[in-house]
Order: sequence, then C-alpha cells, then structure tokens
Amino acid sequence: MTKSALRADINKLFFEPKHKRCEIIIGDALEILKEYPPNTFRCCVTSPPYWGLRDYGIANQIGAEMKLDDYVENLTKIFREIRRVLTEDGTLWLNLGDSYTSGNRTWRDADKKNPARAMRYRPPTPEGLKPKDLIGVPWRVAFALQADGWYLRSDIIWYKPNCQPESVKDRPTRAHEYIFLFSKSEKYLYDYEAIKEPSNSHGTLRNKRTIWAINTEPFPGAHFATFPPKLVEDCILAGSKPGDMVLDPFFGSGTVGEVCIKYKRNFTGIELKEEYAAIAYKRLGWAL
Ligand SMILES: C[S@@+](CC[C@H](N)C(=O)[O-])C[C@H]1O[C@@H](n2cnc3c(N)ncnc32)[C@H](O)[C@@H]1O
Repeated sequence: MTKSALRADINKLFFEPKHKRCEIIIGDALEILKEYPPNTFRCCVTSPPYWGLRDYGIANQIGAEMKLDDYVENLTKIFREIRRVLTEDGTLWLNLGDSYTSGNRTWRDADKKNPARAMRYRPPTPEGLKPKDLIGVPWRVAFALQADGWYLRSDIIWYKPNCQPESVKDRPTRAHEYIFLFSKSEKYLYDYEAIKEPSNSHGTLRNKRTIWAINTEPFPGAHFATFPPKLVEDCILAGSKPGDMVLDPFFGSGTVGEVCIKYKRNFTGIELKEEYAAIAYKRLGWAL
C-alpha cells in the first residue's frame, strides 16, 4: 500500500464516529507536530529510538545521529514542540534506555532475534568519554529538557525482571530503563488515586512508588522494542481523563493507541516508517 493510500485510509477512519479522534499520521514527528495548535494534548507517552542502538533505515530517523549532542538537540527540538501542543496542566512521560560507548567497533552485527539491532555504523565515542563508559543518555536528555523549560518531576525506574541476559563479567547485567515524568507547568494533572499500589499491610493502597517492575513483551512483527501495555497504562491513567487527547510522536507498533482505546482516551500517533504505521493500524483493529 502506498503512503498516500495508507494516509487516506487512516484519515477516513479518523472521521468514523466510533474512534472519532484516533489517528495515525505517517511522517517526521517535528514536522507533523508543527501542524497542531497549542493545548491539544493532555498527556504525551512516548519512547524515542535510543541513541546508536537501532537503525530503522529511513531518513530523518532519530537515534542514528553520529554525535550524541545532535541526538540530544534533535530530541529537545521535538519535545519543545510537544510542550507547545500540551495543555497547561499536561505531562510528558518519556521512556529512555542507556548505552555504552562503542570502543573501537565501528559496526554492530545483526542480532538474529532482532534484525533492526544491526547498525551500519557505530557512533564514535563522544568527547570526554572513554571506551566502555556508560553514556548516561537518559539523564543527558532529561537535563537538556529541564534546561529548555520542562519541569522534571520524577525519574521512574522501569525494572525488567525478564531482562535480556548479557555476556558481561565486569559489571552487573542491566535490568532497567528510565521513565521521566515532566510537566509543562508547576501544577498539572497527576491522578495519584488512579495508580495507587498495594501497600505491605493487608488490603490498603499507597501512593505509587518510583520502581515499576514490569516484564518486557515482544510484539509479533515489530522489529524494535515495544512498550509493555502495563507500563503505558499507569502513565495514561495518571496523566489523562477519559475523552482527553493523548500523543505518542514515536508510535511504532501503536501500544499507546491500544491502551487509549481500552481506557477511552483519544490519541494521535506519529510514525516515520510507513511499514510500522501499518503494523499499528492492523493491531488497532482497523483492517487495511
Ligand atoms: C522505540 S520505537 C517505539 C515503539 C512504541 N513505543 C511501541 O510500543 O511500539 C521508536 C519509533 O520511532 C520511530 N521514529 C524514528 N524517528 C522518527 C521521527 N523522526 N518521527 C517519527 N517517528 C520516528 C521509529 O520508526 C520507531 O518506530
């Protein structure tokens, strides 16, 4: 199916009463976001490509920058646009994983289970870092967004009990990623009641803690890391109300859309790669 036919099809469904304000837009997040007016979205839940980890093989992709600073700057520009289109009480839930400097390797071999992990290049070691250094990408991005005007309200550790084994013997196996909660203003919607967790004592609930233990769940057909729906659920339940508009500018296989439909939120998903938009489109039950 061609890009314009897919877009036309999606736009047709955009006007269907049942999912009146659910849309998938194919294109570059920065360019598409410019078309939206301020105060459109109550909440944004997203996971951009991580720096230097995957090659999606398409122009304008985020994550394939040769320089770490360019990656941070490109994300800052996109999230500035997202701050503009969020409501004043809106929040951003940003998932990011870290990586290590490449040392002297210039490319990474294809991973049989995950073909998109093959890189045609490895970015050079950023200035000031050494081979084998943990880069600290999530925090670099978090500080850049904070400096750009976002309120950095919480770091959340997504602990993955079923994490991939690693063949390392000189450090612990990485079993976590970050989710950062940012707000546009000092006061914002955070429905803490909606995501309370069981306390140690019988039957009582307490305010959600900052460590979320959630297994990864691969989505068939998607050659990249997809969100486990449970992770998205808590972000959406705390950051929006039924009927609100939710945004995912790096839509991938459409997990955010699936959770929005379940909890009666509307959504806009932006995805650069037509093939992935088609996966999301099918997943959300709209036959092509
Ligand atoms: C980590 S995946 C997101 C997965 C998603 N959270 C899910 O659950 O399926 C990141 C996605 O961002 C897309 N992407 C990369 N650069 C983009 C850009 N400039 N604009 C929009 N999407 C982009 C990639 O094609 C990929 O599908």
